[in-house]
Amino acid sequence: WHHVAVTADRRPIRVIAHRGASEDAPEHSLAAYRQAITEGADALECDVRLTADGHLVCVHDRRINRTSNGRGAVSALELAQLAELDFGSWKSPAGTGAETPDSADPERTTVLTLDRLLRLVAEAERPVDLAIETKHPTRWAGQVESRLLDLLARHPLPGQVRVMSFSARSLRRVRLAAPGLPTVYLMQFLLPRHRGGRLPAGNLIAGPSIRIVRRDPGYVARAHRAGHEVHVWTVDDPADVELCARLGVDAIITNRPRTVREQLDRL
Ligand code: G3P
Ligand code: CA
Repeated sequence: WHHVAVTADRRPIRVIAHRGASEDAPEHSLAAYRQAITEGADALECDVRLTADGHLVCVHDRRINRTSNGRGAVSALELAQLAELDFGSWKSPAGTGAETPDSADPERTTVLTLDRLLRLVAEAERPVDLAIETKHPTRWAGQVESRLLDLLARHPLPGQVRVMSFSARSLRRVRLAAPGLPTVYLMQFLLPRHRGGRLPAGNLIAGPSIRIVRRDPGYVARAHRAGHEVHVWTVDDPADVELCARLGVDAIITNRPRTVREQLDRL
């Protein structure tokens, strides 16, 4: 007999795979997302950035230096240039020689486009949600959001997609063009005007960092009272998972979907 951790209104806490199963596989690789689906994630999280030739790719940092064997800003490189680079081998243990699991498998090393990720979700064996984060979109005057909405129009996944951002302006642009798409307002710190649980108008879901929740556990109940779901990032530590479960958050965003799922199932 075991209990499934549930939110205050008795729905199971959902597990969202942050950049895929990114503790094990290279973040934002097709392999990391396939693994997350296999491990039972309810949703996949990805960051998107615009290339110099207008493609959305799943890359977290402004520059590709940390996660590839290339250098430079995503925005200064074309998709064909990114496609020639290795986005996976950095994850392999250093000094292990030529052939590693990461360097041998194109699904671990090839830069992932949002287009490809949408196809993966559309073709998945079971329904899985997608939480897409627009990264620093204010610099591109709406191009990130319009490209994103073009892609979603081409790969309709009704009810499965939400858009996240630290930028209220980006989320407003998304809602103006696609009023039905839920938006998640991400917060690194709790600004005084958000302490009561209210979000900038129109956002359905609060996305506080785990630091906010540790410092101010009452935030979760206040956001719920204000009518918002609460999706917390990035929660890898078992003590934090337990805290989130106790507070009845709606979703946990984690690099280790299998471990978190197993812990929640034991609670
Ligand atoms: O899911 C939200 C979280 O991913 C925001 O932080 O830096 O990991 O994109 P970051
Ligand atoms: Ca992110």
